[in-house]
Parts: sequence; structure tokens; C-alpha cells
Amino acid sequence: MRKKVVAGNWKMNTTPAEGVELLKGVAALKGDVCSCVNFIVIPPFTHLSEIVKNAKGTGIAVGAQNCAAEAKGAYTGEVSAKMIASLGVEYVILGHSERREYYGETSATLNKKMVQAYENNLIPIYCVGEKLEERENGKYFDVVRAQIEEVVFNLTPEQFSKLIIAYEPVWAIGTGKTATAEQAQEIHAFIRKVLAEKFGDAAANTVILYGGSCKPSNAAELFAKEDVDGGLIGGAALVASDFIGIGKGF
Ligand code: G3H
Repeated sequence: MRKKVVAGNWKMNTTPAEGVELLKGVAALKGDVCSCVNFIVIPPFTHLSEIVKNAKGTGIAVGAQNCAAEAKGAYTGEVSAKMIASLGVEYVILGHSERREYYGETSATLNKKMVQAYENNLIPIYCVGEKLEERENGKYFDVVRAQIEEVVFNLTPEQFSKLIIAYEPVWAIGTGKTATAEQAQEIHAFIRKVLAEKFGDAAANTVILYGGSCKPSNAAELFAKEDVDGGLIGGAALVASDFIGIGKGF
């Protein structure tokens, strides 16, 4: 039985004080959701310390949105995986399409970030997904396969056993357009098949999240699909009742 996960990527939103209020709102409503659902909040770096403190005892885990590709040194503005882990953070998003698109992150960079994450016991939430034109010209299977082969295939079986994957079609992120449950299932099943080519039966245990305009009204249909194990939520994670409403989709 795979874990059910609802992760909220707050992106560059909220002040630290607003973030703590949001976390408290989620914690207050969490009792309405099946205890089988694992909630993760993923605030900006500036909030991590306070959010970890306030999340203690709530059962809500905390993640970071990125980490540096290097361990330490003269990299102005970067935040290392060790710094993040030292705060008690458990997860880190790597390869989000916004990082790939706006900050030029390539598979080469992401391989280095993966090494840093695992060396510091952070669990990566590795994002894959195609752009609109790649969906329309039918190349989306090739794009997603390459994103997996170039990074995930470099992991050891032990590392792979901890990995979470998030499939986020770029055309659905923040656009209000959601992949249909059938589209999500098709590509999630494909991702699992590609993972099995390298890691065999272990791929059956990999948590694969859907991300892209997921909201309380469409979560249940998406989460009902066999290979959709939860969501990586953007906009709807900024409203406690919506985030919790998505958790009720299980
Ligand atoms: O990381 C989260 C995704 O980019 C989804 O964002 O729910 O605002 O579309 P969204």
C-alpha cells in the first residue's frame, strides 16, 4: 500500500508570520481528514525554522522548495541541503518546472542537487512534466522519460526507495486547466513503467503525485486513479480550508 501524500508548495508567497498562521490553520482542520493522508507544507526558506517549530506535534511534515547543487562555499544567495536539513526539514522539491524554466536548471544541475539532498537525508520530491507544445505534438512521453532517465536512473536502489515523484504538466500549473483524471493516470502509469525498467518491482512502491490546478473540486477524481498517490499543490495550498479540502479527496 503506497503512502497518500498531499504536499503544499507555497512558492514565493506569504511572510513568515503569515506562513505560521497558514500552518496553524491547516493543523486545526487536519482532524477532518483521514489519518492515512500525509500532509507536507513547503514554505520559502525564510520560514523554515519557524514552520518546523510550529509543526511539531501536528503530524505535518515540512519541505524546502530547492537546495544548492554544491555542499558549501562561495555561492552567494544559495542555501545548502545541510543547512535545510539542520532545521529539521524532511523533504526538498527538486526540478520544479519553474526552476527549470526561469533558472535554467538542467539534468546536470539536478543530479548534483540529488546528491546533496540524499547526503543530508532530505527526501527529494522530483518534478517532471511537459510543456503545452510537447503535449500537443505528442512528445510528452519522450520528455517525461528523459527527465526520469537523466536523473532518477542515476540513483542507487536505496535512494530510489525514498524518492517521491511529482508529475506536473506545465500547461496545468497555475492556469486553472487541470489534466483530466484519465490523462493523469495515463502518464502516471507510464512513469511507473519507466521506473520499473530500471528499479523493477520497487517502482510499485513509488509515490507519484499529480500537480497542476488541483483543488478540492477535482482532487477526489484524480486521487481515485490507481497510479495517482496524491498531489503537489500550489495556489490551493495557500488557503488552509482548500488544502485540507484536497486531503478529503482521499
Ligand atoms: O508545485 C505546485 C505546482 O506547480 C502546482 O501549482 O496548483 O498553482 O497549479 P498550482
